[in-house]
Amino acid sequence: MKIIDGKETARRIKAEIAEEVKKLTEAGERPPYLSAILVGHDGGSESYMANKVKACEECGFDSDLIRFDDDVTEERLLEEIKRLNEDPKVDGFIVQLPLPAHIDDQKVIEAIDYRKDVDGFHPVNVGRLSIGLPGFRSATPAGIMDLLERYGIETKGKHAVVLGRSNIVGKPIATLLMQKSNPGDCTVTVCHSSTKNIKEICREADIIVAALGRPGFVTEDMVKEGAVVIDVGTTRVPDASRKSGFRLCGDVDFEKVAPKCSYITPVPGGVGPMTICSLMKNTLMARKGDYFN
Ligand code: GUN
Repeated sequence: MKIIDGKETARRIKAEIAEEVKKLTEAGERPPYLSAILVGHDGGSESYMANKVKACEECGFDSDLIRFDDDVTEERLLEEIKRLNEDPKVDGFIVQLPLPAHIDDQKVIEAIDYRKDVDGFHPVNVGRLSIGLPGFRSATPAGIMDLLERYGIETKGKHAVVLGRSNIVGKPIATLLMQKSNPGDCTVTVCHSSTKNIKEICREADIIVAALGRPGFVTEDMVKEGAVVIDVGTTRVPDASRKSGFRLCGDVDFEKVAPKCSYITPVPGGVGPMTICSLMKNTLMARKGDYFN
């Protein structure tokens, strides 16, 4: 059994990006510029944001964080998005989700210029991904594909089972895994809250991607000997013994499942650090204008 080290892989990818940015700036070009909008003070979102700002520094990007209070109107937020769409110094930007209930997430996503949509959430980028055209890929699925590639994990002809059908992870990872590419070329089954026989389906899987947000959902009786298990779960579970008061819990019962796997990602330190890396890669692509110009 091999543990997939997302933290170390992410560190290497960020070093590669920094190297490319150095070449750009040495050639007299400006570095990539990422803006991020954060509404409110949700603990998880605050911590994602801090990590994104840190990653920008590590990669040599310029960045800024635009904050709004919880009670910002949808109209004001859309106005800010329009400003960022039109600002030539901003190569890409993200609006941290989830947004407060009075704001329509989808309306916000569709207001973003797809050429600056480095989260890969705009319907143009989702559509391009689904028909195999270049474009910005949703960061977590792109990070998972990078891990499969860098660890040389065979995917062609394998049965991949995706648990979860979210627009951010489940749907796009299923699309990428079924694409005729390497990694890819899998036969994909997507399971969700109405799926019957999830255990039986998982037992048939060569690759399991767990993205349900249900701590410890994948147990050892669901995993075939030698399977590859990718854990996308990051639920905050209260833990009085930690200084933060919580610990991050994956969707997989790691202790029991790991011995059966050929490869497995831990939580934390698996998929999480790769997500931010993909955002950095997308921002570099936005700077270079390779996808759409
Ligand atoms: N919330 C959880 N993950 C993400 C992400 O990748 N991007 C944005 N914008 N919000 C998120």
